[in-house]
Amino acid sequence: MIIANSLSTFLVVLCRCLFTLVKSSKLRESLEHITILGIESSCDETSASVLRDRRVLSNYIANQDVHEQYGGVVPELASRAHQSNILPVIDRALKDAGITLKEIDAIAYTVGPGLIGALMVGSSFAKGLSISTGKPLIEAHHMQSHVLAHFIQSPEQREPPLPFLCLTVSGGHTQIVQVDNPLEQSVIGRTLDDAAGEAFDKAAKIIGLPYPGGPLIDAHAKAGDPHRFVFPISDTPSLNYSFSGLKTAVLYFVRDHVKKDPAFVEENLADICASVQHTIVETLLQKLRLAIAQTGIQHIGIAGGVSANSLLRHRLLEFEDEGCSVYLPKFEFCTDNAAMIATYGHYKYIQQAFGSLATAPKARMPY
Ligand code: KG4
Ligand code: ZN
Repeated sequence: MIIANSLSTFLVVLCRCLFTLVKSSKLRESLEHITILGIESSCDETSASVLRDRRVLSNYIANQDVHEQYGGVVPELASRAHQSNILPVIDRALKDAGITLKEIDAIAYTVGPGLIGALMVGSSFAKGLSISTGKPLIEAHHMQSHVLAHFIQSPEQREPPLPFLCLTVSGGHTQIVQVDNPLEQSVIGRTLDDAAGEAFDKAAKIIGLPYPGGPLIDAHAKAGDPHRFVFPISDTPSLNYSFSGLKTAVLYFVRDHVKKDPAFVEENLADICASVQHTIVETLLQKLRLAIAQTGIQHIGIAGGVSANSLLRHRLLEFEDEGCSVYLPKFEFCTDNAAMIATYGHYKYIQQAFGSLATAPKARMPY
């Protein structure tokens, strides 16, 4: 009797071990080639991307020109444009990648932060795809995904060693992030008011440039003198930023000069752009320097749309003379794109951390 009991206990334990072994080897097998479909719709870019083992098979981005005439993103128009773009964009990304939905392991979509109507389009589409294909969902944090653009496998970019500091600068956020692991990121400095991209765009609007003004200021600044006009560099406590003072300074500066000479902006466009750009970039770098000194971390990266700025990239590379190593993602991975969302999905897939059909997208999210 005792022998029979021990034998059956032994068999149960053996079966459990075998089951765990098969399950983990299946998981290991499925983790060998991870294929993720990423979907991004948090603001005014509809994007879809397919990544296999973090290598980009496709990354398709549809921009929305409709906002240009309004000097900023109009949320309602963004949602409508996403609605018409989302199907062709995903279809194109799958075709460019040369794969079918069957070969996808999971669908990663931006759950937030962002414009709620815009997020709803991407999240509803992702959920519909998940229901119809049976593929799991992954909820991606837009800002953490920007940082993960550094981990996209590409021959043209180097992966930063951990830990590294990432200056994340976009239209809605300005943050210094300490990255201890791809999914272990902490914000050690942030803007107290406007974001750096917002400062670029608002200054551009004041001088009559269309939205988004950041890339236009960058382009005009190339022919200008950055020291011709002096704008204030804010001095906020700790590692935090403030850009609202700059916007007011540019507004009064333009108003006062145009009163005396209506052609002032037109005749001095390049110098104004160069001076504004210089002020924003110097403000960003001052705090980054402080963060390097405070943390002792000398591996530096940048992320977000403003990291496409040519002066910022150039001035950051000068940090290498001071003993830092600098990592700059490719341009196409700096502004909003779904390859960074799929990269986030890759790391969450390894953890088998899947989302739920019941999750609602969020305009604001804790980091
Ligand atoms: O990350 P992003 O594509 O969208 C979000 O805000 O999430 O960033 C867009 C921002 C806009 O403010 C745009 O003006 C700015 O990035 N930007 C630039 C440049 N390219 C894009 N700002 C300065 N110089 C650039 N070359
Ligand atoms: Zn963004």
